[in-house]
Amino acid sequence: MKIFLDTASVTEIQKALTYGVIDGVTTNPSLVAKEGREFVPLIREITALVPGPVSVEVTASTPQEMIAQAETYAAIAANVVIKVPVNLEGLQVVRTLSKRGIQTNVTLIFSPSQALLAAKAGATYVSPFVGRVDDISGEGMALVKDIAHIYGNYRIATEIIVASVRHPLHVVEAARIGAHVATIPFATLAQLLHHPLTAAGMERFLKDWEKVKR
Ligand code: E4P
Repeated sequence: MKIFLDTASVTEIQKALTYGVIDGVTTNPSLVAKEGREFVPLIREITALVPGPVSVEVTASTPQEMIAQAETYAAIAANVVIKVPVNLEGLQVVRTLSKRGIQTNVTLIFSPSQALLAAKAGATYVSPFVGRVDDISGEGMALVKDIAHIYGNYRIATEIIVASVRHPLHVVEAARIGAHVATIPFATLAQLLHHPLTAAGMERFLKDWEKVKR
């Protein structure tokens, strides 16, 4: 399973890349707003750092405007993937961009039917938001299972990005299901490694090492 970092923070991306486990980055308007920086230079910096796909979201409302925005963003770097909302206008955008060879990530997926239509329109990726489903007492991972099952039935090539990840178990479940990608916040990266027995084991080894005659 590929792991993307869900952030627009250059500091977080630079740090995470040193661990050798990050395959790409996803951003959204909320994550970008947190950085307080000018949009295009920020995306240019991120795409130059990341040796993999970087999702950048369009925010216009008509298909024509979204396509124009997408073309501007896609021209920033070859690894830009255009994030498009899952609605009728979005499907038109995905269809046009896929014909032009521009990769897309259809976002805000909350149902298998949305994922099916996004794939049919030519989406490169779909992003089911598992944490937001859990937040309203739904089962986010059940949504991912459904999408994976449907895509498997028809050998659909669209990749599933498990998004809105809140904790390590979301990532483990995503891998169990066989999702192609989990996009995770920086904090979850360290949580994935943490185990109290590892910490206790290290402490004991280091204490015993002090007793070794050298
Ligand atoms: C995914 O592409 C989104 O950027 C992100 O995962 C949304 O996460 P949130 O629900 O924590 O805002």
